[in-house]
Amino acid sequence: MTVHRNDLQLDAEGRLRHFLSIDGLSKTLLTSIMDTAESFTGVAERNVKKVPLLRGKTIANLFFENSTRTQTTFELAAKRLSADVLSINIATSATSKGESLLDTIRNLEAMHVDMFVVRHAASGASHFIARNAAPHVSVINAGDGRHSHPTQAMLDMFTIRRNKGDFGDLKVAIVGDILHSRVARSQIHALNILGAREVRVVAPRTLLPTKVEQLGVSAFHNLDQGLRDVDVVIMLRLQKERMRGALLPSEHEYFNCFGLTEDRLRHAKPDVIVMHPGPINRGVEIDSRVVDGPHSVILQQVSYGIAIRMAVMSMAIHSEAKAAGGGAG
Ligand code: NCD
Repeated sequence: MTVHRNDLQLDAEGRLRHFLSIDGLSKTLLTSIMDTAESFTGVAERNVKKVPLLRGKTIANLFFENSTRTQTTFELAAKRLSADVLSINIATSATSKGESLLDTIRNLEAMHVDMFVVRHAASGASHFIARNAAPHVSVINAGDGRHSHPTQAMLDMFTIRRNKGDFGDLKVAIVGDILHSRVARSQIHALNILGAREVRVVAPRTLLPTKVEQLGVSAFHNLDQGLRDVDVVIMLRLQKERMRGALLPSEHEYFNCFGLTEDRLRHAKPDVIVMHPGPINRGVEIDSRVVDGPHSVILQQVSYGIAIRMAVMSMAIHSEAKAAGGGAG
């Protein structure tokens, strides 16, 4: 299945229609997502945490895989845009009675849903829905298999921009299970599109994809070397649910070689920021003192996730409404 289709993501004027993956998108578009998110960061501080941009629109959250942060921040983002939100629990839905993905979508379309937010274990699931959805419907990928997690990458870029400013000066290290990580893939594309000075991946050989350099990164197998002089460190969880066979001797051994501790962080720049998309496994990929320490911006990532998701949802529905001659915002 082809999974990069920008003719699918963008409308005839180059505006966002679906948000499925980062690769192939322009620096201008990624920047405008962040600029739009900037305008939404204040909404959470208001007495009434709402703007009326998506009033009268219906958004369905379809999570076929577990999630805490992503699902709740998508739901909050939709509510803060004044949309009506359906969060469908797939475990108790008709999917568990054998209904096909397409039939689930068709039924929700019959209820006049305007947008689907989809997380699925199969790479390409959101692209499949976008290709088969009714013309007025937008699809946002909330994580598909190992392939892509574009809103996570954008909230990470937004966190970096808010803390560090221009990407052109930055060295970024992504550390951990790159092989199974849709987050890493999306971050690598976003950092390269935004012009980061250097993107490094740091992992044991067994947790790096073959020919990873072709993605536009330099590969390190030693944590201290990989961290040297970096401005940003992004730690990743071991995605054990996706591992087939023994890729690591033990978690203890992994922590000794690749776990981020205060000592090891000293190899990075003094003002380094430490990020993690969550869920964190304390003592496996990262020491608790680093999670809770002064360099950590991990909880900022969670808050900015709402602003980024508000931006993406309002841009996608707005684009669709304009294309149809309406006016949503
Ligand atoms: C990530 C995911 O689901 O891909 N988490 C998230 O969305 N915050 C990373 C992970 O599961 O490790």
